[in-house]
Amino acid sequence: MPKKTVEDIEVKGKKVLLRVDFNVPLKINTGAISDDSRIRASLPTVRYLVDHKAKVIICSHLGRPEGKVVENLRMAPIAERLSQLMGLPVSTASDCIGREVESKVGTLKEGDILVLENLRFHPEEEEDDAGFARKLASLADIYVNDAFGTAHRAHASTVGVAKYLPAVAGFLMNKELAVMEKLLHNPERPWVCLIGGAKVSDKIELLQNMLKKVDMLLVGGGMAATFLNTQGYEVGHSLIEGDKLGLAKKLLQEAKEWGVPFLLPIDAVVAEEIRVGAPTRVVPTSSIPAGSHIVDIGPKSIELFHGELRRCRTIMWNGPMGIYEIPQFAQGTKSIAKFLSTLNATTIIGGGSSAEVVEAMGLTDKMTHVSTGGGASLRFLEGVTLPGVKVLLDKK
Ligand code: 3PG
Repeated sequence: MPKKTVEDIEVKGKKVLLRVDFNVPLKINTGAISDDSRIRASLPTVRYLVDHKAKVIICSHLGRPEGKVVENLRMAPIAERLSQLMGLPVSTASDCIGREVESKVGTLKEGDILVLENLRFHPEEEEDDAGFARKLASLADIYVNDAFGTAHRAHASTVGVAKYLPAVAGFLMNKELAVMEKLLHNPERPWVCLIGGAKVSDKIELLQNMLKKVDMLLVGGGMAATFLNTQGYEVGHSLIEGDKLGLAKKLLQEAKEWGVPFLLPIDAVVAEEIRVGAPTRVVPTSSIPAGSHIVDIGPKSIELFHGELRRCRTIMWNGPMGIYEIPQFAQGTKSIAKFLSTLNATTIIGGGSSAEVVEAMGLTDKMTHVSTGGGASLRFLEGVTLPGVKVLLDKK
């Protein structure tokens, strides 16, 4: 069911509580923003509210401060970047509820922007505490949720506030939902899911749900080791999730029954140590040497995957093909990103690490959609109704 958006509600002169996901990566040494994609992704909603003369009260979490004030997780640098990107002044508050905030909200004029302090400095945020939600909601007349990336969390600012205010979606939330809905219900075929990442356990529900929808599944990354092991292959020191072997085997069997090709890497880059500069070699996945780790997919697997991807009209990619944080082990992941960017097909990047790689390689504009929600898009594609979406008003 489509949700109401900011365009379906009168915002002029109204105080609007805008929940965004400005949980951006920060540089470890300096605390500077290392990727502002999530801020840029919500600009259309902020701009719309400003242009339509709302009083804009922005709230977000940043990092995981666990209910305490953590100095280097304050929202001030985020507000500053937002101000630069908007070309407008943006004021800040030293908390997200309370007297000071109420008085700052009271002085807002139409088109003004105020950024509240990190919601997660209060433990009540993640507890979806009703009193905290009511205090947040009392700041505004309308609630707009543009935080797709946090929509899988049932927190006070994503779920609780919607009990007290008319709740609608922002443009980013609306776009993410439309893209994911189309993937699940109306994709152009053939359509394929390329799944990677370290663990089967993180993606098992996704694979189970996708199996019944896609025309093909391609699996790489660390999780491939568990699948390869069910096929009787030795995988050296690579992580095998013993308790998931049964499920992995069942998935492969179901894929066969559904007639869905389920492709695993046919060769791999292996190393005896997982460290920068470790010597590597390429071996068939049928002969992984004892004592080595699979660290990337090999050139033949890259070729195989490229060949299959080339035939598809819709591609969803979630999860790296190897330990991409170490440049030597990132070739498979990078080559997939580069290849997807050249295709004349619908290419959806499912957030998280894959989105980071695409952004770092400057390929974002060459993809159909790069999701701002790693965990949220994963949950959505598993078939879960996201709590932060459920509470928004239906369009009809
Ligand atoms: C994310 O980065 O996935 C979202 O901002 C949610 O953050 P969380 O995993 O800390 O809840």
